[in-house]
Amino acid sequence: MTEPRLLEGKIAIVTGSSRGIGSAIAEDFAIQGAKVVVNYNSSEEAALAVVEKITSAGGTATPYQADVSDFVAAQALAKNTIDTYGHIDILVNNAGTTRDTLLLLMKEDDWDVVLNTNLKSMFNCCKAVARPMIRRKQGGRIINISSVVGLVGQAGQVNYAASKAGIVGLTKSLAKELGSRQITVNAIAPGFFPTTLTEVLTDDMVQVAIERTPLGRLGALEDVAYLTSFLASDRASFITGEVIKIDGGLAM
Ligand SMILES: NC(=O)c1ccc[n+]([C@@H]2O[C@H](COP(=O)([O-])OP(=O)(O)OC[C@H]3O[C@@H](n4cnc5c(N)ncnc54)[C@H](OP(=O)(O)O)[C@@H]3O)[C@@H](O)[C@H]2O)c1
Repeated sequence: MTEPRLLEGKIAIVTGSSRGIGSAIAEDFAIQGAKVVVNYNSSEEAALAVVEKITSAGGTATPYQADVSDFVAAQALAKNTIDTYGHIDILVNNAGTTRDTLLLLMKEDDWDVVLNTNLKSMFNCCKAVARPMIRRKQGGRIINISSVVGLVGQAGQVNYAASKAGIVGLTKSLAKELGSRQITVNAIAPGFFPTTLTEVLTDDMVQVAIERTPLGRLGALEDVAYLTSFLASDRASFITGEVIKIDGGLAM
């Protein structure tokens, strides 16, 4: 018997899906039958390559430029998705950035950019999709990408850790607000994954992370993608307000 695809016919927005974890999520969503809006801010060429990879494999995807830290741009992202595909079933808030340094050296701008990109973007995009999801009365899925750093802290990342911890509070509160509408809101807290975000880490730092990880390796991008596809699917309809670590056991 052929298994139906997990996300057949669903409409999904994945913020920051021009590379890294976001592109892996967008690609797996398409494999699972979703039509995907590949959002990016400045990496147009990379976003177009993700769309091309999806469409050449028989999937459906469109690129959309929007700085999701900008309230109006996030509204436009949601409106364009509805204009293109009719409605929104799934929002993955994945866009994120770092400006790492110790508190004593951190500039106000380092704080503002990271909090706006990582946390304000969640408010912007959740706000943009919640009303159309509620009006449609077909439930929905919101999945927010946090980090284990938001749960356990990390020297040199007070801005990033605060933004990722903020996502946890936002996720649980919004899950309580939207539960009666069958819209689930969950967060994923990844450990270390090889992307441009983590390429600043020295080989020694990566080695220490691997040694502290019970599974003895860094994560593969597909690991996060498979979890996200599951949470976005009907199979996860009774899971809401959760923060799921995916870190090989690093932060247990
Ligand atoms: N890699 C890890 O080990 C790890 C661990 C824990 C959590 N995470 C989280 O996972 C998410 C993805 O990280 P990653 O490692 O895949 O990072 P990445 O490779 O640097 O990709 C970041 C993505 O976010 C987009 N982006 C950044 N600012 C944006 C904005 N203002 N508006 C729209 N898109 C924006 C980027 O697109 P443009 O280039 O077009 O701006 C890019 O597509 C982040 O939230 C990150 O904090 C990563």
